[in-house]
Amino acid sequence: MAFIKVADLAELPEGRGVLLERAGHAIALFNAGGGRVYATSPLCPHEDGPLADGWLEGDAVVCPWHGFDFDLATGGCRVDENLSIAVYTTRVVDATVEVDLP
Ligand code: FES
Repeated sequence: MAFIKVADLAELPEGRGVLLERAGHAIALFNAGGGRVYATSPLCPHEDGPLADGWLEGDAVVCPWHGFDFDLATGGCRVDENLSIAVYTTRVVDATVEVDLP
């Protein structure tokens, strides 16, 4: 586990996602505003929808394909408790977003 610089905070649209590849990992990165940034695995476990094309509703990301939403803190799906996504710890250092990747 190590924090990797992935983006400048100013590059991330608020309330939306961005798909990135860093250090061999594809991640979906979300700017929730107020310096809060979340990082998740990029594919929805329902039918592999692109989570980075989804949007934020409160503390959840909504998949653009069928609307399943996932808690950004736990990764748990609020529609189907058997589904979950990976969530990664993030931090903002001098306006740069870093993600703790496995
Ligand atoms: S693929 Fe994400 S909700 Fe269906």
